[in-house]
Amino acid sequence: MRFFVDTAEIDAIRELHELGMVDGVTTNPSLIKKSGRDILEVTKEICDLVEGPVSAEVVALKAEDMIAEGRKLAEIAENIAVKVPLTWDGLKACKVLTGEGKMVNVTLCFSANQALLAAKAGATFISPFIGRLDDLNVDGLDLIADIREIYDNYGFETNILAASIRSANHMSECAKIGADVATAPPNVIKAMANHVLTDKGLDAFVKDAADAGIKIV
Ligand code: G3P
Repeated sequence: MRFFVDTAEIDAIRELHELGMVDGVTTNPSLIKKSGRDILEVTKEICDLVEGPVSAEVVALKAEDMIAEGRKLAEIAENIAVKVPLTWDGLKACKVLTGEGKMVNVTLCFSANQALLAAKAGATFISPFIGRLDDLNVDGLDLIADIREIYDNYGFETNILAASIRSANHMSECAKIGADVATAPPNVIKAMANHVLTDKGLDAFVKDAADAGIKIV
């Protein structure tokens, strides 16, 4: 499973990138707002840092306006994936932009039917939002499994990009189901390293090393 980082914070991306944990980046208008940066500038900076796909989202609602915005975003760098919402206009924009050879990430997916339409429109990525379904007491992971089954039934090449990931548990469950990509905030990726038994075991080793006077360098 590829890891994308769901943030527009350059320092956080850089830290994970140095560890080889960043296969791509996803942003959205809310994350750009949080960064306090200009969308074109910060997206360019991210694209210069990361080799993999960098999703940058349109803000228009009509297909023709989304297409114009998508073309402008795609000029930033070769690795831009234009992000469009899963609306009928978004699907139209997806079809046109993928027809021009651009990567397109169709976002705000909350049902298997929406994912099926995105695949038919040629989407490079479909972004089902797990956490926001969980918020409604609907298991978001079930949606990932349903889309996996449907795409595999028909050999659709659209990548399942699990999004709105809120916990380390979401990451391993997505990997078990077979999501192609999971995009998560930096703190969630870092939390994957945590285990209470690791901390407990390390405390004991540190104490015993001190008691025994073990020195290596
Ligand atoms: O990848 C989509 C993500 O940014 C939304 O996450 O936690 O706001 O539902 P969240």
